[in-house]
Amino acid sequence: MVFILAATGATVGLGNIWKFPYLAGEYGGGAFVLVYLLCIAFIGFPLMVAEVAVGRRGRLSPINTLRSLSEIEGGSPRWVWAGGLGVLAGLLIGSFYSVIAGWALAYMFRAASGAFEHVTAQGIASIFNNLITDPERLLAWHTIFMVMTVAVLARGIRSGLERAVKLLVPGLLVMLLVLIGYGASTGYLGQTLFFLFRPDFSSLSFAAVLEALGHAFFTLSLGMGAIMIYGSYLPRQVPIMRTSLLVVLLDTLVALLAGLAIFSIAFAHELPVNSGPGLIFQTLPMAFGKMQAGGVFGGIFFLLLVFAAWTSAIALLEPAVAWLVESLNLQRVRAAVLTGFVAWLLGIVSLLSFSQWAFSFEFAGMQKQHGLFDLFSILASGVLLPLGGLSVVLFTAWVMHRESVLDALGGADGPGFRLWYFLVRYVAPVALVVVFLWVLGVM
Ligand code: TRP
Repeated sequence: MVFILAATGATVGLGNIWKFPYLAGEYGGGAFVLVYLLCIAFIGFPLMVAEVAVGRRGRLSPINTLRSLSEIEGGSPRWVWAGGLGVLAGLLIGSFYSVIAGWALAYMFRAASGAFEHVTAQGIASIFNNLITDPERLLAWHTIFMVMTVAVLARGIRSGLERAVKLLVPGLLVMLLVLIGYGASTGYLGQTLFFLFRPDFSSLSFAAVLEALGHAFFTLSLGMGAIMIYGSYLPRQVPIMRTSLLVVLLDTLVALLAGLAIFSIAFAHELPVNSGPGLIFQTLPMAFGKMQAGGVFGGIFFLLLVFAAWTSAIALLEPAVAWLVESLNLQRVRAAVLTGFVAWLLGIVSLLSFSQWAFSFEFAGMQKQHGLFDLFSILASGVLLPLGGLSVVLFTAWVMHRESVLDALGGADGPGFRLWYFLVRYVAPVALVVVFLWVLGVM
């Protein structure tokens, strides 16, 4: 139970509610969503099982788990680099994650104070633009969120937060259903379903495939050792396949519901769906402004979003903290403050990407508007996480012996195991390598 709560806390976050909808909107809906779901099923789920199993067998921080398992299984000491990659990815994602969580914090107060009541589409757009082009305000929110994150990391006690996930996920689901209800009342749910679930492959660009793959890693917190850490606390008798499946399904459910809510609101009010990272901040306030007690609902919604982001941000920076504590013998408090500080500094780069340092660039035919923020996001999800994931997949399936893997999973050699083993041995690595070759060939 604790594992499910912790892993759900780490996986359900801004990725589901903020990033999934804006990517789906940018890349034209259905085809992107289908590729994302395929990546979840055939790469994400098997990889999650592998990360948990490796973590449970190694019982150390990712870097040291890979070192010790590699030694035992007769692999190369270089596998530790996969752990190092994860630490870097965590810092990079953690940096811009905190900036966006800061937006959610700001919106929580906005919504609760009734600022969205009777607001027009232009009003909402200007509220949003005023916020993201004001670096001082963004810095304040970013700093507050980072301090919240470091405070928990420094204590290393998360049991309270984990228990709160029991309220968080149902709370988010209820709020999303309220929003979907609002969307349905405007009569645009049908169009939304078409948009999200009828794939139009002519709109499926190369960039869309890479981002769908990257997002499958991002939303499931894979490819950087975070899930491995949770695996390292998992008792032996817990069935890994079933627990991982539950976590994956919950995460996917939250994302799809968020998509339904946000696009039905966007269609109902003729708001653009391809407005990028601002999408939820420019659509949801419209619904909260129109519904009964919208201030209360809006305040609660953004509070839950901040909370979801908080539990994720803690897990994002945990690999770096764990490594500093274990390998450099740093005190936990110092390790947490140092990690938080590096992520905070890096975050300032993302924060300025929406104003002073904004520039646009073309990414495989896609116009990206937010300079280094977009670059960090693509670098992390499209390169670092898939590379980290590929390493874990190869390590599990080709370095560890079949008996050790079977033992790590604690299961019997049944059809379930064989199917999973086939996926991690062949399907996932081949798919990842093909995408990488494609990237290199195209760029
Ligand atoms: N999955 C998180 C989300 O959807 C983001 C994330 C990516 C993450 N990698 C992670 C969270 C590692 C914790 C640990 O918002």
